[in-house]
Amino acid sequence: MASTNRLTKVPGSNSQQKGSSLKDDHVIDETKEYYRQRASQYSDWSRRTGKHEGGSEPDESFFGEAKMLLDALDSEKLTGDVLEIASGTGIWTEALTRHATSITALDSSQEMIDRCKTRLKGNPKVQYVHADFYAWTPDRHYDAVTFSFWISHVPSWKLDEFTAKISHCLRRRGRVFFVDQQRSAMKYEVMDQPGGEIASRTLEDGKTFNVVKHFYVPEEITRSLRKNGIETRVSNTPNHFYYARGEKAP
Ligand SMILES: C[S@@+](CC[C@H](N)C(=O)[O-])C[C@H]1O[C@@H](n2cnc3c(N)ncnc32)[C@H](O)[C@@H]1O
Repeated sequence: MASTNRLTKVPGSNSQQKGSSLKDDHVIDETKEYYRQRASQYSDWSRRTGKHEGGSEPDESFFGEAKMLLDALDSEKLTGDVLEIASGTGIWTEALTRHATSITALDSSQEMIDRCKTRLKGNPKVQYVHADFYAWTPDRHYDAVTFSFWISHVPSWKLDEFTAKISHCLRRRGRVFFVDQQRSAMKYEVMDQPGGEIASRTLEDGKTFNVVKHFYVPEEITRSLRKNGIETRVSNTPNHFYYARGEKAP
């Protein structure tokens, strides 16, 4: 293990954040339930199949830019013990195995974890944690924390709690890497109100869910991370995505 530091106190918790309400917390639960029920259809989005076939943009540019994200992750060489938040079906977990010594893949959906396990074929580097990240208590520090297509599901009222917890999970000089969609993708969402952060999503069986979807301006995220001792640089791919690389202060 690259880091043996144990944690003593965890900031944030599953207790309600200042400014949030039970209604707000309900949308976080509904977001988890949406992904739990979507697990079997999830690869449709990344493969541009099913209802996403053809997609909102030519597939060639989508796949080309998705490859840029994987290349950016690879060139980051996240070595040591890596925490992956919201690991989903393991697209990124698999890529992480190239450089990491160990990967803790955390997701709130057992159905997602099962798919990740299938993809990773028993790779001994990966440990799975079935938990809600907000409620989870880490018991150690990591060399790197990463999350893909996840931060847009962190509502603004929890952003500082989230970045504080990332910082707490990291050792000094520990690294952060994350990717998500650019704000231009907002036009494909049915938002509850202009500039809102709750989207209506419908699964193939017709069930509709209210899901947190906040299209952050990158500066909102970098400012919040900086408050917690993490400096980050954000880069855009031409049309669809951005990726961010950061490091916690020594
Ligand atoms: C958009 S998917 C991203 C999955 C994966 N990172 C990828 O890029 O393919 C969001 C993931 O977050 C998980 N999730 C949702 N709410 C969560 C929470 N509160 N704590 C942990 N995982 C959560 C979902 O189960 C889902 O796997």
